[in-house]
Amino acid sequence: MALSAAKLGSSRAAPRMILLNHATVSSIHLKSSPRSIYARGVGPRYWHLSIVCKKEAGTSPTSSINKAPLQKDIENGSCLGLSSEEYNREACLDASERESTVSITVFGASGDLAKKKIFPALFALYYEDCLPKHFTVFGYAQSKMTDAELRTMVSKTLTCRIDKRENCGQKMEQFLERCFYHSGQYDLEESLAELDKKLKEQEAGRLSNRLFYLSIPPNIFIDVVKSASKSASSKNGWTRVIVEKPFGRDTESSAALTRGLKQYLEEDQIFRIDHYLGKELVENLSVLRFSNLVFEPLWSRQYIRNVQLTFSEDFGTEGRGGYFDNYGIIRDIMQNHLLQIFTLFAMETPISLDAEDIRNEKVKVLHSMKPLQLEDVVIGQYKSHTRNGISLGTRMIKLAEIRVQFCHVPGSLYKRCFGTDIDLATNELIIRVQPDEAIYLKINNKLPGLGMKLDRSNLNLLYSSRYSKEIPDAYERLLLDAIEGERRLFIRSDELDAAWELFTPLLKELEEKKIAPELYPYGSRGPVGAHYLAAKYNVRWGDVNTSE
Ligand code: BG6
Repeated sequence: MALSAAKLGSSRAAPRMILLNHATVSSIHLKSSPRSIYARGVGPRYWHLSIVCKKEAGTSPTSSINKAPLQKDIENGSCLGLSSEEYNREACLDASERESTVSITVFGASGDLAKKKIFPALFALYYEDCLPKHFTVFGYAQSKMTDAELRTMVSKTLTCRIDKRENCGQKMEQFLERCFYHSGQYDLEESLAELDKKLKEQEAGRLSNRLFYLSIPPNIFIDVVKSASKSASSKNGWTRVIVEKPFGRDTESSAALTRGLKQYLEEDQIFRIDHYLGKELVENLSVLRFSNLVFEPLWSRQYIRNVQLTFSEDFGTEGRGGYFDNYGIIRDIMQNHLLQIFTLFAMETPISLDAEDIRNEKVKVLHSMKPLQLEDVVIGQYKSHTRNGISLGTRMIKLAEIRVQFCHVPGSLYKRCFGTDIDLATNELIIRVQPDEAIYLKINNKLPGLGMKLDRSNLNLLYSSRYSKEIPDAYERLLLDAIEGERRLFIRSDELDAAWELFTPLLKELEEKKIAPELYPYGSRGPVGAHYLAAKYNVRWGDVNTSE
């Protein structure tokens, strides 16, 4: 596959990336500031990071969507303003139950995302008693459908957790009774006014809080937000909008989208979702870093040689060729999912766990990086993956992981026990986001017995062995946060701008120069160029291997 290395000590990071069709590698090095509440007195830190991605195949608001939702939420007693760690969820729900109702409208209700992720996540929250007592779910799309038809459609993708099946059928029935459908145009205020009428019927005079989920193509985001703001926003509670990517396709289009949304919404009403931020091990990254003394002081250039973020999937473009031709894997995965993980990995200790403090630190990381350079990028594309109708590529795996390679032990006493490849003896910390969530640390250990032979072993925290609880889907966490007004895991507009600034020049250059991708066999480890890039920076590419 691929990788990179770094010129350390520059004040801005120099990212490197290898793109394999749908497969990318990038490395970034950056200098961070010395401030750390856990490691006071430690000198300046320097970072050197790499990302691998492999995948086949301020205008002023004017709207009627409520302003100052934060203030309103506090007045409503819905616990907004506190981080989820700080409040007692029970108390929170009690307050909202007494006084308010939450109406969740899913625009694009018949789409794949809604069916596979959004409705199942809402049901899981309902099953876990995480939704307020008074809530309704509305599916909204252009096609004609009755409430009963929507319920049948939704019921096909609802599941109970493996470890929680009690009353599953009954709970599903109860949930489906709260689901309704409204057919309407996305750009017609009258359609949204009809929705408003139906929402009011369900809200039954209670204080109304409304969450709109835009699971629709971005070219109609503004139309929907405009119509919703005029005709369906809450008049006495909060109104929030979850926006799904793509948030534009470069700096300019993203800024235009933000300007458009902000004609009708305040920034804190906009919840830009990146579902990778809702994944358990991504949430855990800060816990691992900032609550463990054994890791925190080592999180510096002095001890870490490089960091590799790897994303790979075990299927090709699968009918999404048009989307990838137009949008591409850099925009689909790197500019958002991987960069988000990267900022959490590299940020300095925030002064608190408040959303703004965390997002401020993430933005600083992005601002301290240099835009990607073409010479640090390898682009690949897989060759046809069938021969005589038979699918090739059995070695493909679905994987997302963070691999931290530490430096050599200076003057190691055991150097000669490692043979010629001393790199193989360096410690590695691997955070496997998926599948089979795990955190493991590769260490050197003496083989038991007489003599002195060293063995490379893992200190392994495999989630399925340690925790019996099923890990919630990322969308559950994020939907719950949006309902509760917790913004920590959502992307702020300045973060988005900074992220696009890093990728836009490269994307333009790739398109303008029509850079031809290096072809590689479907299912292989990607283009050979990746290895050259790795070698150029003297970085050892980690094994993409879930059985480590
Ligand atoms: C989405 C991308 O954001 O993430 C898809 O648009 C990709 O192309 C998906 O397949 C991967 O998500 P997950 O959670 O399955 O790793």
